[in-house]
Amino acid sequence: MSVHSQTKRLTLRDLQGLCDRQEPIASLTAYDATQARLMDAAGVDLVLVGDSLGMVVLGHETTLPVTMDDMIYHTRAVARGLRRALLMADMPFMSYVSVDQALHNAARLMQEGGAQMVKLEGDAQQVAVVTAMSHHGIPVCAHLGLRPQSVHKLGGYRVQGREAEAAQRMIKDAMALQEAGADMLLLECVPSTLAAEIRAMARIPVIGIGAGAQCDGQILVVQDILGMTDHAPRFAKNFLTGQTGVQAAMAAFVQAVKSGSFPAAEHSFLS
Ligand code: KIV
Repeated sequence: MSVHSQTKRLTLRDLQGLCDRQEPIASLTAYDATQARLMDAAGVDLVLVGDSLGMVVLGHETTLPVTMDDMIYHTRAVARGLRRALLMADMPFMSYVSVDQALHNAARLMQEGGAQMVKLEGDAQQVAVVTAMSHHGIPVCAHLGLRPQSVHKLGGYRVQGREAEAAQRMIKDAMALQEAGADMLLLECVPSTLAAEIRAMARIPVIGIGAGAQCDGQILVVQDILGMTDHAPRFAKNFLTGQTGVQAAMAAFVQAVKSGSFPAAEHSFLS
């Protein structure tokens, strides 16, 4: 038996099981095989090949220039290094404008890249796409709150859902996407109280980034936990401080998420 076949690959059911047992899901972004291998060894549950690679790997100002080919190249590299964690990959900007285009590109991320799940940024406008993906057996995560692909429309990287009307809209969008067949929700930069409300209503895992401690799991960009970014966002934390190396820093992140010590109030938005 090969080493690979001895390692159990986590599935969506496993992540749902973690939620049911109230064990927080620890998630990081990865962009290459080495990062993936270290994350598996550190006990990360869910690895995202984020289109943040446009900024942290390729040096663009935003995620908008990221192409399908960029995503497939990096997803394939991560897939080669990953044996245990569930692998999710981002649908890049303008790659899911129509249902047909979304299905075609999600299939590429799974067939060519080796992703087990895709993520798209969206509100209720994406219900048709999520429905079609669900009907075709494509696991999908809906990313709400701060949606970096809409940075120009949003007027910057700002906390979303602060006003009552915007908060109600986000709750409705989240429920519509869940009903359409989304398998997971990801909330970025939303007040903790709003994230807690969405999580209480959801029956699928809710992963947060800058969304407070009440989510089912936490995700951060790997460069942020390793202190590699010039201006890390307020919700991030450098886990390399005091550790002996990269794998130990990743393990410290996992431990902090699992124990509930991360995120603390200073990494969250109260309103
Ligand atoms: O692209 C990305 O890395 C993301 C995370 C910030 C959640 O979407």
